[in-house]
Amino acid sequence: MLQKYKEITVKKLEEYFDEYSLNSSYSKIIWDSMRYTTLLDGKRLRAIMCLEVANLFGAKLENAIPCACALEIMHAYSLIHDDLPCMDNDDLRRGKATNHKVFGEAIAVLAGDALISFGAQLLIDKLSGNCSSDVVIDVVRDYLNTAGAMGIVAGQVADIEAENKKIDFDNLKYIHKYKTGTLFNCSITMGAKIAGVKTHVLNRLKEYADNFGILFQVYDDIIDCTLSTSELGKTAGKDEISNKLTYVSAFGLDKAKNIFYSLIQRNHDILNELKISSDVFNDIEEMLVKRIK
Ligand code: IPE
Ligand code: IPE
Ligand code: MG
Ligand code: MG
Ligand code: MG
Repeated sequence: MLQKYKEITVKKLEEYFDEYSLNSSYSKIIWDSMRYTTLLDGKRLRAIMCLEVANLFGAKLENAIPCACALEIMHAYSLIHDDLPCMDNDDLRRGKATNHKVFGEAIAVLAGDALISFGAQLLIDKLSGNCSSDVVIDVVRDYLNTAGAMGIVAGQVADIEAENKKIDFDNLKYIHKYKTGTLFNCSITMGAKIAGVKTHVLNRLKEYADNFGILFQVYDDIIDCTLSTSELGKTAGKDEISNKLTYVSAFGLDKAKNIFYSLIQRNHDILNELKISSDVFNDIEEMLVKRIK
């Protein structure tokens, strides 16, 4: 199922890019740049989680797919900007040259900007008429909150400001919650909202998503210093070189792993309480655990 969700998302992303960019009188280079990073081979976790929650709670796949694509589009924006020379200054992403290495910095900045609006545009265009206007507005509001200064941007600002600074655990939690957690929260919430789940279930799912966001960034901090550049598809050891505040720099590798496992356990408990059994969520967890070992 995980693979099927991934394939559906990639196929639909290609179709949407074609639909909006072909025969358009707008600049070709910006669409090429937007498409480049979005369609490089990623794990598609945010799309998969949205599709799985939507499916578990009975949403129509045709409504879940544009959501999954918009989430991957927002994710691609965050990666392009994260890699810029003025941010993490990375040359490699998803095993290929970063966006600014291929298209130049100015186009990479603009592609990130354009992706944010493209995702929101897709949600409005593809959900209107199929979901109630209340749901469309709600989902688009969540999307925009997540992309901006109340979401990813808040975390990225704190991440940059924490470079070369003393360890402050509250700040570290804040960074991970916002730079990574908000998008996972948005992914799971979107799947749940288009399925119309009840508020008390939605709140538990948000808790699951918040935990997942933190444990995923802890995982990313760990593999940054345990895996090779070819295994990562991005430059290994980058956090240490840049003096980043991470769970590994704050606690050391072993304690960071313990924190990762305790968050995994907490998420098992939430799914058990909700009586949710999901092979997709289990497979994602297994994939992360395997790479941490
Ligand atoms: C990378 O996310 C950015 C972080 C939040 C750590 P992923 O590891 O999900 O990247 P892709 O989508 O698989 O390339
Ligand atoms: C990921 O942080 C956060 C976003 C991309 C928003 P990192 O800087 O650790 O991500 P990678 O390691 O470059 O993928
Ligand atoms: Mg970063
Ligand atoms: Mg980075
Ligand atoms: Mg990282």
